[in-house]
Amino acid sequence: MAELASLSLDDKEFKLPVITGSEGEMAIDTRKLRKESGYICYDQGYGNTGSCMSEITYLDGDKGILRHRGYPIEQLTQNSDYIETAYLVIYGELPTAGQRSEFNALLAEHADVDPRMHSILEGFPQNASPMAMLSSLMAALPAYYPELATNNFEQDLKNFDQTAALAISKIRTFVVMIYRYQRGLPMVPSKDVPYCENLLQMMFSEEQKDYVTDPEVVKALDLLLLLHVDHEQNCSTATVRMVGSSAANLLASLSAGIAALSGPLHGGANAAVMKMLQAIHDEGDDGSHFIEAAKSGDKSKRLMGFGHAVYRNFDPRAKIIGVSCEKVLATLGIDDPLLSIAQHLEQAALKDDYFVSRKLYPNVDFYSGIIMRALGIPVEMFTAAFAMGRVPGWIANWREVAAQPKGRIYRPRQVYMGPVQRDYPVKG
Ligand code: SDX
Repeated sequence: MAELASLSLDDKEFKLPVITGSEGEMAIDTRKLRKESGYICYDQGYGNTGSCMSEITYLDGDKGILRHRGYPIEQLTQNSDYIETAYLVIYGELPTAGQRSEFNALLAEHADVDPRMHSILEGFPQNASPMAMLSSLMAALPAYYPELATNNFEQDLKNFDQTAALAISKIRTFVVMIYRYQRGLPMVPSKDVPYCENLLQMMFSEEQKDYVTDPEVVKALDLLLLLHVDHEQNCSTATVRMVGSSAANLLASLSAGIAALSGPLHGGANAAVMKMLQAIHDEGDDGSHFIEAAKSGDKSKRLMGFGHAVYRNFDPRAKIIGVSCEKVLATLGIDDPLLSIAQHLEQAALKDDYFVSRKLYPNVDFYSGIIMRALGIPVEMFTAAFAMGRVPGWIANWREVAAQPKGRIYRPRQVYMGPVQRDYPVKG
């Protein structure tokens, strides 16, 4: 493998170091290119640019591989659970029994919110975007924990364990607050039960009777959160790193990540898939018309839940969710017509040259909405559930930025294509 890349520019030869990752990925280190040659690299959307070196998640888009700290996602979904995987992603190793109970204790300690936070929601119309409300609640959190959000890397890293557990616990409670606020239901206190059970009980229990959690529902929710825990330098994770690089505290950086995730091309796709499947169902179509429209190249007619910026093969998470989807619906005795439409759509698209030639396969969002609906989570809360799952990955990435000894603020360059210098018209 080359150790140096040579670049000839204006009859000069530039030697650039080659970096090889632990999985053999190769990168040309262009950090000195501008200083030495005056040239910058141009890579719109950074699709071919490494913004960092990271030890958290490895994915191979061609082979459909996804590993967290070296553990394949298939093994984690078989043997682990969301909280253990969250700990692994953040700290780099699976927790010992002692570490697990300490982590659980911190999550329980931070499960409720300062009552004053409810007034933040009261400033929103009840039908406001849950992601706008979620991002606002997260942005407000530092005001209630200033000692954990000093905007000083050294200080904030000292309190990192508290802040990380607080963020994971609070975002679950924020999701409950938003769900109940939208429905005019009073908030209920957290229960002394594990993470996912607590979410379901707080979300669905009425004041009079406690919601009885079905273990299958808890297991399915835990799987969904685990599958969303981290995914390399996706749009929202890269946003968290970008914001964190300014020494903004973890909670403020998470609020930015929530905003980035809300876009329909990213975390909003799970809700967009359900709207698409419902539209197909309401038209009495089996999906064929929709597939034809999706091939037009019109971005607004895309097959939501299909395609991926990195995977040119099946998204391994989609495979796992697809299998679990059938199991969960069967166990819960739910016959959702959207599942068969989704399965038909998948089969038809995978035989259609338009999708095959562009290597467009189902991604994590294609089936996740069907499971979430079966669990009773309303479609407008799907992306908020995705954010809940992704918070540990964002936290782990923020920590890598904050802990970097010679961390620099992220500041990409540009190729200016605007007007050259001109004079202000003299007023007559
Ligand atoms: C997530 O990055 C991550 O890791 C994200 C994520 C995570 O865990 O964080 O995995 C979560 O965001 C999953 C993706 C959810 N989004 C969707 O399902 C929305 C639908 N998918 C697309 O919009 C699209 O596939 C993207 C945005 C996901 C990826 O877009 P790219 O890499 O920019 O692909 P592209 O736009 O360059 O498309 C290449 C070609 C184009 O056709 P041509 O110009 O070559 O003719 O494929 C076509 C596109 O028009 N295409 C699609 C399509 N996706 C791409 N055509 C129809 N339907 C689609 N879904």
